[in-house]
Amino acid sequence: MFRSFTCGELNISNVGQDVTLAGWVQRVRKMGGMTFVDLRDRYGVTQLVFNQEINGDLCEKANKLGREFVIQAKGAVSERSSKNLNIPTGEIEIIVNELNILNSSEVPPFTIEDNTDGGDDIRMQYRYLDLRRNPVRSNLELRHKIAFEIRRFLDEKRFLEVETPILIGSTPEGARDFVVPSRMNPNQFYALPQSPQLFKQLLMVSGFDRYFQIAKCFRDEDLRADRQPEFTQIDCEMTFVEQEDVLNIFEGMMNHLFKYVKDIEFAEAFPRITWADAMKYYGCDKPDIRFGMKFVELKDLTTGGNFVVFDSAEYVAGICAPGCASYTRKQLDQLTDFVKRPQIGAKGLVWVKVEADGTCKSSADKFYSQEQVKSWADRCEANPGDLLLIMAGDTRKTQKQLCELRLEVGGQLGLRNKDVFAPLWVIDFPLFEWDEDTQRFYAMHHPFTSPNPDDLSMLDSNPGEVRAWAYDMVINGVELGGGSIRIHDSKLQNKMFQLLGFTEEQAQAQFGFLMDAFKFGAPPHGGLAFGLDRVVSMFAGLDSIRDCIAFPKNNSGRDVMIDAPSIITDDQLNELHLSLVKPIEK
Ligand code: AMO
Repeated sequence: MFRSFTCGELNISNVGQDVTLAGWVQRVRKMGGMTFVDLRDRYGVTQLVFNQEINGDLCEKANKLGREFVIQAKGAVSERSSKNLNIPTGEIEIIVNELNILNSSEVPPFTIEDNTDGGDDIRMQYRYLDLRRNPVRSNLELRHKIAFEIRRFLDEKRFLEVETPILIGSTPEGARDFVVPSRMNPNQFYALPQSPQLFKQLLMVSGFDRYFQIAKCFRDEDLRADRQPEFTQIDCEMTFVEQEDVLNIFEGMMNHLFKYVKDIEFAEAFPRITWADAMKYYGCDKPDIRFGMKFVELKDLTTGGNFVVFDSAEYVAGICAPGCASYTRKQLDQLTDFVKRPQIGAKGLVWVKVEADGTCKSSADKFYSQEQVKSWADRCEANPGDLLLIMAGDTRKTQKQLCELRLEVGGQLGLRNKDVFAPLWVIDFPLFEWDEDTQRFYAMHHPFTSPNPDDLSMLDSNPGEVRAWAYDMVINGVELGGGSIRIHDSKLQNKMFQLLGFTEEQAQAQFGFLMDAFKFGAPPHGGLAFGLDRVVSMFAGLDSIRDCIAFPKNNSGRDVMIDAPSIITDDQLNELHLSLVKPIEK
């Protein structure tokens, strides 16, 4: 038996017991004739003690231990004289009588401590060492707990976990595909699934009724803090459901997770907001509603002041930052610089301070009377001491910019507390999204999403106005999941493809199997998928989903530990019937 206990479980009740522990050397400290070794495993740290006077040879052996050596220690549990009440094992230590070195270790490239001296790159290169650190490991433990609770919840609701293939054809989720050449089918490629969307719909046609899968998905898109090229979805689909059924089940699942993982119970049902209102009041489809500062439109009140910025703008709107009238010139300039950053791209902003006596002071004072500026403050329901921040321009662009400003100011005011969770559903998304560059409509969710039947008459005449039966769950400004009720009628599905610019041949070539399946009794169905990585990082309060993935990719899509992607040999290229356009110089 390698060990009788782990390094995290012995306490005062074990005093006097003979035990065997095994683990990694966290630290060796010599004090007088005593040597203390912190022994670490996944469960915690236990102090080992060696006494020069009692057993000199053993103590010498302990003195030679280096960081990250793997050892086995046998001895008796003893009460410590100086206790460390910050850790569960801090009241005891092991008086060691036998020490076995199971493996030595080179000096690790960074210290394996909670606050490590290792930078991001080196930790990713030696990720297996980084994973020995408590904060990283605890994120993976949380991930396990969340996945386990998801399975428990969905199993109770009669969902069946079914695996779907990884080597498939293209799935239309809007990103580029990762492709894999086929050796056995020259000049042909598999695509890796961007999601199991088509398979889960086919499983509904097969009568599985309720499906889920914790599924790997692959998307070749630009990476961000909440995006990885390969990520994990909690992918779900249900038969004989309407939107309301799907929202209820998955609101239940999120409530279950918060209750059993975070011990948080929400008093109210998740609020719902239409996509149109989300854009109107927050300027984006994933509003952070931990705080107010909703947009207030001011175009009608600002026109006619000979202020060309407002007069020429399609859209003028402001937010009211509570208690910020005390902002200094420098702080206001910093906010202006913030919106002028290239990523945001605004030309500037107008501010209005509501002074203690109710009078208003504005950066556009020379164009407007006190009454006019006051009317803006009144519409924004600003109180003395508040600050209005106003932006103007094209509607969509300005909404996006004001959305960034709102989030920035909310952050500065401490209103985006990671321990506060504000979930909501965004519903009534448009079915289509117009793309200026290509001058055509794209499906806002994906081409299998059902139009809202109330809007069917506009499908030809005004497709941009047609609402979809599509929904997203958003928490704290992060889209955690999204889905839709699907089209289950092959004629309507054909019509969708046609509106999306597919020729009949193209639709048949790409999705013929689905259209065929729909001819054999496809039931009404719908579902959604959550991003597991995003759920875990939200629960853990992380800034990036990378921190809850065991072996993530960096921002260039590289795994720096295994050094992938990498070149392949000429033989492999030949076998795959491939030649490189730009051959590698040898
Ligand atoms: P969608 O494309 O909205 O829907 O994806 C669902 C959820 O997956 C997560 N997600 C990602 N997480 C990390 N990195 C990425 N690159 C990434 N892309 C998406 C998000 C998102 O909400 N088949 C549909 C679902 C359906 O209709 O049922 C789909 O994939 O949390």
